[in-house]
Amino acid sequence: MAPSESTFSPATLAIHADDRINKLTDVAPPIHTSTTFRYPRHAADLQPVPGDVETVDLSTPLVYSRLASSNINRLETILAPLLYPGTPEPELEELSNHVVSYSSGLSAFHALLVNVVPKVVAISGGYHGCYGVISLHQKMHGLKTVDLHASDEEWDKAGLSKGDIVHLETPLNPSGKAFSIAKYAERAHKRGAILSVDATFGPPGLQDPFLWGADVVMHSGTKYIGGHSDLLCGILATKKGVEGGEQAGTLRAERIFLGSVLGGLEGWLGVRSLRTLELRVSRQSENATRIVEWLDRALKGGQDAEIVRSTVESVTHASLQIHDFHWLKKQMPNGFGPVFSIWMKSPQDARQLPSLLKLFHHATSLGGVESLIEWRRMSDSGVDERLLRISIGVENWEDLKADLSQAFKTLKE
Ligand SMILES: Cc1ncc(COP(=O)(O)O)c(C=O)c1O
Repeated sequence: MAPSESTFSPATLAIHADDRINKLTDVAPPIHTSTTFRYPRHAADLQPVPGDVETVDLSTPLVYSRLASSNINRLETILAPLLYPGTPEPELEELSNHVVSYSSGLSAFHALLVNVVPKVVAISGGYHGCYGVISLHQKMHGLKTVDLHASDEEWDKAGLSKGDIVHLETPLNPSGKAFSIAKYAERAHKRGAILSVDATFGPPGLQDPFLWGADVVMHSGTKYIGGHSDLLCGILATKKGVEGGEQAGTLRAERIFLGSVLGGLEGWLGVRSLRTLELRVSRQSENATRIVEWLDRALKGGQDAEIVRSTVESVTHASLQIHDFHWLKKQMPNGFGPVFSIWMKSPQDARQLPSLLKLFHHATSLGGVESLIEWRRMSDSGVDERLLRISIGVENWEDLKADLSQAFKTLKE
């Protein structure tokens, strides 16, 4: 993500990418809440709506907020340099059209399936809610799934081919483990399928899935893009080039009828959040990696071994995948995701630990500035009862470590 001569870095553009659409003198973006927009005053300037609109872009004049609105346009404009880092500025204006926001991560995934209409989706593990969306498509038109990690022969048997989707979540919810995007891009493209990457756990700044062959990148913007646990948001971004542009145009047109557009206030909150995305994510990533390192060392007999080993069985995070570093350090050159999981020795300890912590809220979700821990069984019926998922915030990491340490000690007593 080194800045090229012809463009500013994503951190700079997160502050300035929307300057070109800023018609007002306000430094802080105004909050636009109008759902409807006046047509031109002069009858001669009125442009009746065309017949069937199959693709839409950001230059469409504002009419009604289910189609487009100021705060949403601003959000999608700022996301472009973050989702396509290193792109020369003249291209960024067009690329803003490739970013389509939704009212939640799951509504973005639903919109993708509506857009592509695959017969088969290759998927494995990851966020359980995506399987709920798939089950709706199973009900509507018999969509099938096949294991993402199955062999080519099994993919053949499932009929995975042109027009289908290989859906890779990396890093993976809840373990924080990463998978090679390039490997799945090659497997998907070989058979004419598209690769969608749910990059929620590796937000902009940590990885650029397009660099490794993703056709569509999805985010639950509720997490790091929002970053303050106060907005639901979903993002789909399509690859550069004509094909990606056309797909984004149809996604934008279909969103009108799905109705799953982000609310104006949420759009504004998203803009507020993107300004600090890089600062937050780099701090959260560094914090998480330090805490994982401490836990891993303790489990191997290092500092605090006695208290950690008495109650923790194992820890999972991409930073521990040393055998994968040959590709992983290229895919995530600036650090790993800020979420990891620990498996406790007993379900009782997993249930108890969150109540003993002072600095971690016991809550689901992730990506906010505040650290969260979740006994995962609270929101996912399919998981091991010893599992705790931890989302690290922007607090001082040594305070977080001390908090975990005192809780382990209490469990041991
Ligand atoms: C990896 C991943 N993808 C998608 C989603 C769904 O996002 P949302 O809750 O914004 O619908 C989540 C939510 O936790 C998630 O963790």
